[in-house]
Amino acid sequence: MNHEEMEMNYIAPTYGKRGITLVRGEGVYLYDDQGKKYLDCFSNVGVTILGHANPKINDAIKNQIDKLMNLHQSFISDIRAEYSKRIVEAAPDYLTRVFYCNSGTESVEAAIKFARATTGRPEIIATKMGYHGKTMGALSLTKTAPKYNNAFMPLLEDVNHFSYNDAQSLKEIISEKTAAVILEPIQGEGGIKPATKEFLEEVKKICDENGTLLIFDEVQTGMGRTGKLFAHTHFGVSCDIMCLAKGPANGVPIGMTLISDKVSEKLFKGAHTNTFGGNPLACAAGLAVLDYIDENKCLENAEEVGNYFMEQIRAIDSPLIREVRGMGLMIGLDLKTRATKYLKALQDEGILAFPSVSTVIRFLPALTFQKEHVDLVIEKLKKVLSE
Ligand SMILES: Cc1ncc(COP(=O)(O)O)c(C=O)c1O
Repeated sequence: MNHEEMEMNYIAPTYGKRGITLVRGEGVYLYDDQGKKYLDCFSNVGVTILGHANPKINDAIKNQIDKLMNLHQSFISDIRAEYSKRIVEAAPDYLTRVFYCNSGTESVEAAIKFARATTGRPEIIATKMGYHGKTMGALSLTKTAPKYNNAFMPLLEDVNHFSYNDAQSLKEIISEKTAAVILEPIQGEGGIKPATKEFLEEVKKICDENGTLLIFDEVQTGMGRTGKLFAHTHFGVSCDIMCLAKGPANGVPIGMTLISDKVSEKLFKGAHTNTFGGNPLACAAGLAVLDYIDENKCLENAEEVGNYFMEQIRAIDSPLIREVRGMGLMIGLDLKTRATKYLKALQDEGILAFPSVSTVIRFLPALTFQKEHVDLVIEKLKKVLSE
């Protein structure tokens, strides 16, 4: 039995497979078991933001493994304390504390609980085509495809959805029952759809008028992907809660829910806990990630190379292209047809990208991606789109 057959036989069948076995990564490259090299433009859906096997991050991880990997939060950890100070100081000043967990969906679960505890209200309003994860609470907010939700009914009660970039549709459903509105500054799984500044400003105003909290889910957009550490700061709109995961520890599982004073004042011992959250290993990786981003000007790089990437895709003359959307190194190429065939062709050409909705080819490369890497993607993209 080869490795593909083992995975097909022994793993629950909830993932489609891409048909290659990847065994090693270095920087922006991945290698399969045949030694073939791929340019990684998806980074595990935006996780390995500083590239694979980054020596600086790996040294920090190795060093921490030899000291202490895991420590429950009822004890104080030197490295967790340091990281907490750094991540909260790196966040906008309206977010003053961090709750730790291990994934994006868990960071959303915490946000739901914190919003209810803060306001004493039951309802959460999310956006159509928004994605917030697949545990029962987060799934109730997720609305990208009915098939993800329908088999698991009943989901959370008191959840409603409004249209993204249409604040009027929020006005029509928000009420004194609404604890929070949650949305992504750029819808990731929903097709790489950036919010407009006017929309976010209007949503914030409506939330304030109704005593409702605003939650930004920055699981995909956060940690520098858009050229700022947190995407919503491009728009100058504040929030009460921010969800973070994927990239902060460059691949060591970590999730965070950052909260304002108004929220933390309502929390109490035992209100929300978990075993692995804030473990020293993830925090050591997290500290090294923040240092690396600063020292190597990764935010500036994400903006510059991201702009170049989008310009170059827009310059491709192909009747198949509907639109190119995104911000920084979060880019969606929306085709007039299904993307699967083109993703497969790119993979055969040594370029790994990822779908978003069925027509979108999504690029989420490491923040260390360079223009020469973009040029290679463009060359291969032109080829597969013309075949
Ligand atoms: C915006 C957003 N929120 C939440 C999640 C869920 O994160 P995870 O898969 O780590 O649970 C994702 C995952 O893609 C996401 O993009």
